Amino acid sequence: MNFSLNSQPLADISADCLVLALPEEGDWPAATTEADGALGGLISKLRDAGDLSGKNEETRVVPLNDQPWSRLLVIGTGKDADRDAASFRKALTAMTANLKSGPSKSALIAVTDTTVSGDESVSSETAKLNLIGRTLEEQLYTFSAYKSEQPEERKLGEVQVAASNTETALEDAFNLGLATGRGMNYTRDLGNTPPNVCHPVWLAEQATRLAADHESIKTEILDEKQMQALGMNSLLAVGKGSAQPPRLIVMEYRGGNPDDKPQVLVGKGITFDTGGISLKPGAGMDEMKYDMGGAAAVFGTMQVLAETRPEINVVAVIAAAENMPDGSATRPGDIVTTMSGQTVEILNTDAEGRLVLCDALTYAKKFDPEAVIDLATLTGACLIALGHETTGLMANNDELANALLAAGERASDKAWRLPLWDEYQSLLDSNFADMANIGGRTAGTITAGCFLSRFTKDYRWAHLDIAGTAWHTGKAKGSSGRPVPLLVNYLMSHAGK
Ligand code: BES
Ligand code: MN
Ligand code: ZN
Repeated sequence: MNFSLNSQPLADISADCLVLALPEEGDWPAATTEADGALGGLISKLRDAGDLSGKNEETRVVPLNDQPWSRLLVIGTGKDADRDAASFRKALTAMTANLKSGPSKSALIAVTDTTVSGDESVSSETAKLNLIGRTLEEQLYTFSAYKSEQPEERKLGEVQVAASNTETALEDAFNLGLATGRGMNYTRDLGNTPPNVCHPVWLAEQATRLAADHESIKTEILDEKQMQALGMNSLLAVGKGSAQPPRLIVMEYRGGNPDDKPQVLVGKGITFDTGGISLKPGAGMDEMKYDMGGAAAVFGTMQVLAETRPEINVVAVIAAAENMPDGSATRPGDIVTTMSGQTVEILNTDAEGRLVLCDALTYAKKFDPEAVIDLATLTGACLIALGHETTGLMANNDELANALLAAGERASDKAWRLPLWDEYQSLLDSNFADMANIGGRTAGTITAGCFLSRFTKDYRWAHLDIAGTAWHTGKAKGSSGRPVPLLVNYLMSHAGK
């Protein structure tokens, strides 16, 4: 697919399909008025006749004759008062779905001058071009690697997006949006890959490949022996029941000054979570292949960095293991000594995410981090609390928490903060070890966060529970690519500082 910006008058740009935005009421964007003039008032006539309503997400195709464009795709963008970045994204999604399945080989998308409410970071032309770029890539995604019959090849091969100019600021914003969409799609590919293929060693190979494809990325893989030497007994305990050995995957992107402290991203990479001896019920268990969603989002984010080269240092640490029941698996009641020296009574082998993360979080200290952000499909309770729309956020630092919340808002990839107050810590009391790995029936997302907080005291830390947001269930089952947009937005706001 070829994407570019174009700032010429619309009538000077030919394309199979001209895409215009039509608001439900009020003034039209300049591009829509300009095209309506060139088409002798066609859009006005169709609107007055009721063929076009302008309701958000409405798509209508109108064939044209003797014009630089063979057809018109009009997308409804709703009322100005209702249009924020999230609703505009919905309209862009509907637009891309139409282009994806339609007959046009080339498209000229002239919707950038649609007004979006909110501050500069979401309403400016750069913000809109970023969103358009991301939505295009994100919505053109397909995953058919395991189908014997491949879908018909897409006709669309060239997309031009109308912009007020083609100077660096706008080009960069559009390209960052495209890279973010591709990063999400990479995350989705990893997540959607079946668990008999995507195991810890395979995941480690993907890091080696990413480093081979991008010279700005360096990688180091730790095997069981190396982890044993470091005392990562908690991480190792999770992998004990699996025929697939665990791995600790480290990737480094150093685009900033050598002495700039890195942002460290830590990903939960459970390539399949059966629950272990505390076996999960069978229904829907296939979806536990997405239990490496945190790791996958770290991969996607690293790719965005490699493609866009911001001036920032970022280190990725991925704790990869498979949680299986077996004669050599960890039992409920087993006690392990973590890399930090603290002991954990494993009362439930299905609370394995925190067991792999705690050692990875201890390991992260060696990078002298500016901040550490872990991403994990950690608790079913998070899904109950926040549903599939919102990522759970916990942190030991308000400034970091607020920066991540704001990045999520800007990127339409929102998170919501839950408390990590000391009052909850006693829920993890154990009679036999320093702590238990579960906290009981209540506040499951928070007690998981409390557990992690005991390993992150030496640095600024935030935890993103993406159990509800990393993948879609039901008919649209598939990885979502979240929270790559949130992370990219957060990291970019720290670049070059
Ligand atoms: N990977 C699961 C969390 C999960 C469950 C994410 C369903 C998405 C959908 C995690 O390892 C887990 O099993 N957590 C347990 C913790 C409990 C045993 C304290 C849970 O949430 O039930
Ligand atoms: Mn589990
Ligand atoms: Zn899990």
